[in-house]
Amino acid sequence: MTVTTTLQTLDELDSPLLSAVHRAPGHVGPDGPVGRWEGIDGNEDWADEIRRLKTARNAVILAHNYELPEIQDIADHTGDSLALSRIAAETDADVIVFCGVHFMAETAKILSPDKTVLIPDAEAGCSLADSLTETELAEWKAEHPDALVVSYINTTAAVKGLTDVCCTSSNAVDVVAGLPADKEILFGPDQFLGAHVRRETGRDNIHVWAGECHVHAGISGPELARRAEENPDADLFIHPECGCANSAIYLAGEGVIDPERVHMLSTGEMLTSAKVASDAGRGKVLVATEVGMLHQLRGVAPDVDFAPVNERAACPYMKMITPAALLRCLALGADEVDVAPDVAEKARQAVERMIAVGNPGGGE
Ligand code: 13P
Ligand code: SF4
Repeated sequence: MTVTTTLQTLDELDSPLLSAVHRAPGHVGPDGPVGRWEGIDGNEDWADEIRRLKTARNAVILAHNYELPEIQDIADHTGDSLALSRIAAETDADVIVFCGVHFMAETAKILSPDKTVLIPDAEAGCSLADSLTETELAEWKAEHPDALVVSYINTTAAVKGLTDVCCTSSNAVDVVAGLPADKEILFGPDQFLGAHVRRETGRDNIHVWAGECHVHAGISGPELARRAEENPDADLFIHPECGCANSAIYLAGEGVIDPERVHMLSTGEMLTSAKVASDAGRGKVLVATEVGMLHQLRGVAPDVDFAPVNERAACPYMKMITPAALLRCLALGADEVDVAPDVAEKARQAVERMIAVGNPGGGE
């Protein structure tokens, strides 16, 4: 007799490739606890097996724009945080496989509590999400009892539970602009995105948490200035989490960089702007964000020369989602992401308010 689970026979999930999968020794990232899942190349045999297992589980594969190229290419949808959250909220699939970092999979679970949400490696964290804890936010709120809390999606579910409205980089300005002008706002955890929001909305009643993403903070102002000087005709696509974001605006204000060349964009908006750059016959674009983005940009506008401002800006957590990790995930149904129902309940309204605002670029 065949043993069955609720979704599929166990035979169907038996993969001949699984025996090669192993944890590599070593540490990933500044505090990464373990090495990556390795042992399999992202070749055609692997891709066939991923598609077969995905069908057996009735799963949808979502990938963030910072994932490895082979993960982006096998995904059903590749996009920015907002686009992927919206898909996670609406999918008919039984299983959501989130190729991204842990807070993204948690957000999918908050939005779709009845679905099984899997992440190929639960160790894929985020230094930015780690920079604001639930306790710290509770204390900050106690100092400003009348303020509204706006939290970036790059936060834990517990932090979202103490939040009035979440945002992503593509709708942070619209989210804040939509709140009553006389209300104090606590914005966290990213200081560079917070400065961008303060600048764009012109509000001076925003308190910004001093957190940062170690990858984006490492894309510095002096590096941007040097690269812009070397490439005087290139456009600049800058993610607002970058350490160089303030410098870019300053240099544009001082006339050192032509303000027309400077574009502050979420990863999804970069894809929309890449098509515009291509249509306008632009030759070169310098890209200030995580380097995984270049794969999508080169795909949508192959005639434009996209070059990283900092080629070492690779997120070690995003890169934990390897071909081996994805195979293991689909074959074993691991790692499952759960959010305690009371925490999810508290966080849901803030996340639903987030997905109601703005237009994500790409992915949908
Ligand atoms: P977006 O995809 O929303 O631009 O976010 C970037 C990011 O930092 C994810 O880690
Ligand atoms: Fe977090 Fe930065 Fe990695 Fe994005 S790039 S997942 S913000 S550590």
